[in-house]
Amino acid sequence: MKNDYISEIHKKDRLVLHPYEDTNTRGTYNRKLITKSDNIYLYDENGTEYIDGPGGMWCNNIGHGNKEIGEAVKKQLEKLEYCSPFSESTEISAELASVLSELSPGDLNTVFFTTDGSTANDTALRFIMFYNNMLGRPNKKHIITRNKAYHGSTYLTGSITGKDREKNNFDFEKDFIHHLSAPLEYRRKDNQTVEEFCDDLVKEFENKILELGSENVAAFIAEPIMASGGCIVPPEGYLKKIWEICKKNDVLFISDEVVTGFGRIGHFFASEKVFGIKPDIITCAKGITSGYMPLGAVLFSDKLLNDLKNDSALFFHGYTYSGHPACCAAALKNIEIIKRDKILEHVQNIEPYFHQQLKKLYDLPIVGDIRGKGLMAGIECVINKDSKEALVLDKAIGSRIDEESLKLGLIIRPLYHICVLSPALIISKNQIDTLVDKLYLAIKNTITQLEVEGLWKG
Ligand SMILES: Cc1ncc(COP(=O)(O)O)c(C=O)c1O
Repeated sequence: MKNDYISEIHKKDRLVLHPYEDTNTRGTYNRKLITKSDNIYLYDENGTEYIDGPGGMWCNNIGHGNKEIGEAVKKQLEKLEYCSPFSESTEISAELASVLSELSPGDLNTVFFTTDGSTANDTALRFIMFYNNMLGRPNKKHIITRNKAYHGSTYLTGSITGKDREKNNFDFEKDFIHHLSAPLEYRRKDNQTVEEFCDDLVKEFENKILELGSENVAAFIAEPIMASGGCIVPPEGYLKKIWEICKKNDVLFISDEVVTGFGRIGHFFASEKVFGIKPDIITCAKGITSGYMPLGAVLFSDKLLNDLKNDSALFFHGYTYSGHPACCAAALKNIEIIKRDKILEHVQNIEPYFHQQLKKLYDLPIVGDIRGKGLMAGIECVINKDSKEALVLDKAIGSRIDEESLKLGLIIRPLYHICVLSPALIISKNQIDTLVDKLYLAIKNTITQLEVEGLWKG
């Protein structure tokens, strides 16, 4: 690309308010322009190659640059680009609904299409309000969620999100939303076993239901593995115990599989296959199209819809682009590729290698915890491995590591003092080796830089 052209694009790009931009620095620097993609790689305006460590935003499951999805979308657009989902339907959205109902656990056979993960979770919450109103239980509205959860960027999903930074300077619904502790084993109390930690979390949940009264609690929502909260895999048995308490108390369980769905943990859905639970509602997005097109979906159990059979009321909720034909075409092709290329089996086979190689990072003095499952990982940096004090400096250590990684041709996702990885599911052993080598060196270089600046002493 010619330099003049690149400068022109950078100038135009400053007109965009990007997600998560700092109001102070926006428009003062050039964002990296990504101009091309292939396999697990992204290429910038200068042609530099990067391993896409976070797989876009946890969404690039089948890998970049797949031509088949583009062809399927083109074919669909040429045949039928759009009709109103409020009054008509299409072959392609019906096909996708049928495939999703087959892939999903239990009796989750009703599909509502949304445009992304936020609108999927928002839909689930609005449905639950509608459901309880229809059943004559207007007080059953309280939602239990957890600190460090991320469920989206609408008003309501922002409110059930449990990460402080998402709350800065925004207003949130507080009256009927309750945050419990995150199931982060690494930060459990000293001398506490994992089992005791898990029991405490379950007790906290039970106590919250008792405090609110089960007749007032509508739902519990959880990512089976917390993604943006720092890749938090819950202790063994935690989700199952919470799910059983939900069933006992007539509290609905919403499983937010926006990240864990479509292969990231080696299955189309992780709820039942990995965690042994059959949620009442599953929300999904991202990997449903591998990020090629924007789409989300909510899967409801037959029971929920059957409960509403006796009364007639409009489900007054929908999006212009619910079940957009081009997005459904991308999802169907994506699912076909995941099956045909045995991508789930590949994830199951390569998962142990991925986590074993990442363990090399423990050699580095600031790496306190390396956790994850499937092809998701979080690397938490600390000042001291014994005290586990988070390594937060003038600017978050994750950003410093990200800057060093970029110099080496690797993109990571910095989350304050944590780096998260969720590469394309097609990653090979050699590519994992290269990724880990680059990350190792990036963290090592960051440590050297901190020492030079007098910010950290080994
Ligand atoms: C677990 C989870 N739920 C919901 C969302 C929101 O999805 P979207 O950004 O597609 O609206 C995200 C996004 O990162 C997520 O990680």
